[in-house]
Amino acid sequence: MRGWMAAAMIVGMGLTSATASSQSALPRISVREAMADHINPATLAVWDVTNTALADDGGLDPRLMDDAAWEKLAGAASVLHSDAALLSAQPKLQVVQPGREAGQSIAESAYSAEQIQRFIDADPAAFREMAQQLSLTAAELAKAAQERDARRAGETAGQIDALCESCHQKFWYPET
Ligand code: HEC
Repeated sequence: MRGWMAAAMIVGMGLTSATASSQSALPRISVREAMADHINPATLAVWDVTNTALADDGGLDPRLMDDAAWEKLAGAASVLHSDAALLSAQPKLQVVQPGREAGQSIAESAYSAEQIQRFIDADPAAFREMAQQLSLTAAELAKAAQERDARRAGETAGQIDALCESCHQKFWYPET
């Protein structure tokens, strides 16, 4: 686990300049693992803070934020940044790792892993781009939290929500 975290942080810092040789050192992760074990828990930790401090204007209410809340938000957002970067950088985008997770089913999905794999294979560049966008937005959220910028933190948290939704609509449960 510690090795994985360290690798994820390196990915987060140097993603756009990753070369073929550095990619071979990347931890391999399936889309489902990335979602269920990394991206979703990190996002839940973000919502844990932001949902209780949302102001009417879409920002956060600074009066409802203390140092512990800001630090939790910054930490969760930077984990999300690394997790999404790792997914985006996978040389092969696999919904599930063959033989490992195939038996697990996901709630509320109308499509099988094979069908979702076909949606991704039809446009892997868009998938990577959306994961990359999530990573960048999470980095902005982490920065806003470090700077105690309540308005920016609320806005970027809202953008993250929309990014989850738009990728899911395109690749997880598209209307075909
Ligand atoms: C780049 C595209 C993409 C983005 C961005 C994305 N997801 Fe996903 N997500 C998927 C796909 C594809 C699946 C279906 C995977 C499968 O079949 O298991 C999925 C599945 C999930 C699941 C179900 C996992 C399971 O199998 O139990 C959760 C939970 C989830 N995503 C949460 C999130 C959250 C939260 C965000 C935003 C922070 C997010 N996702 C952003 C593509 C994306």
